[in-house]
Amino acid sequence: MVRLARRITQTSPKSFGMYAKAAGLAGSGRDLIHLELGRPFHDTPQHIKDATIAALKRGEVHYSDLQGLPQLREALAAKLRGYNRMDISANEIIVTNGLTQASFAAFMTLIDQGDEAILLEPYYPQHLGKIEMAGGKTVIAPLDRDTGFRIRRDLIEAKITKATRMIVLVNPVNPTGRVYSRAELQIVVDLAIEHDLVVLSDEVYEQILFDGAEHVSIASLPGMKERTVSMYAFTKAYAMDGWRLGYIAADKSLIPGLMKITSTEVTHVNTFIQYGALAAVTGPASALDAMVADDQKKRDLVVARLNQMPGVICARPEGTIYAFPDIRGTGLKSQDAADLILERTGVVVEAGSFYGEMGEGHLRICFGSESIERIGEAMDRLTTFFNEL
Ligand SMILES: Cc1ncc(COP(=O)(O)O)c(C=O)c1O
Repeated sequence: MVRLARRITQTSPKSFGMYAKAAGLAGSGRDLIHLELGRPFHDTPQHIKDATIAALKRGEVHYSDLQGLPQLREALAAKLRGYNRMDISANEIIVTNGLTQASFAAFMTLIDQGDEAILLEPYYPQHLGKIEMAGGKTVIAPLDRDTGFRIRRDLIEAKITKATRMIVLVNPVNPTGRVYSRAELQIVVDLAIEHDLVVLSDEVYEQILFDGAEHVSIASLPGMKERTVSMYAFTKAYAMDGWRLGYIAADKSLIPGLMKITSTEVTHVNTFIQYGALAAVTGPASALDAMVADDQKKRDLVVARLNQMPGVICARPEGTIYAFPDIRGTGLKSQDAADLILERTGVVVEAGSFYGEMGEGHLRICFGSESIERIGEAMDRLTTFFNEL
């Protein structure tokens, strides 16, 4: 047997959750409804595809700028200055293969052997493995479900030690659907400045906001530009998950370090695809608005239906494509519930415990990945399931 590196054998993830279980049932002939994956339902808007095809036809098929197409970075800088209110220029942006590569580069650049990185729980599990691969230690700061998973100073401060290097934020939050307020983010700002910490800010859902919720980028708050790595992607809002396109925004002092990882790893993102990204950022917002409006309808349906099911209480997500219902009233453990739901109904949902202990007693339901009719059908099946428990 070939010996695998400890980087592989001793790091997360230990499991791929319900996604792996459902994949095992592919081809079984069962009518599965996939509400476990955070995959957008919509097609990528046509003008983005057209711009990519035109670039390919024009022969944009060669190596390009290592940091990302200059005109794309200019457009992204304008977007970050406008929408995110960040003080950023085109040379402080790196175009990446989705947010996944952006966060890999960020952790590799900033975490040293033994450094501690604080994750707010429920957390996004993908970040764990990257911290561990970089030689760091994940430290979990559980948020309090009884106060709606709000950021509280005492809960984070209790986890800060001499070895703490960073706080990892996901905002809007996968899996809870929270959108952190300016006041909540200010708590993180104060702690980061007082303890000289870096903040890694995963803002992949920044544009999927409901009921007029405001997205605040932590890097826009005073004192944070120099100590934040902000990360974005075209993945969710533009329905471009398969394109693998994201970007990092960070102070210019951090860019050479980050690029040492991105350019070593993949050189740069596919050249013609970056023209599609340019069309996405500079093109009409109407397609994006229509998709978010559709997500909001699905959110309303799912929240209303879940709250009618016995033993289930579902808070209203302020953003993202996830509902995070509390099922403690049923007496079931999260994983048992997700397994039983799959077995009895063919609906695939993720166990809340996949996102850490604070997620125990919850399910994560993605309402953005199917048509409204299929979501309705899934809710019918779940109603029968909870009624029959
Ligand atoms: C919080 C969070 N970060 C990152 C990602 C991955 O983004 P990408 O597909 O752009 O790599 C996801 C996808 O579900 C996510 O939910």
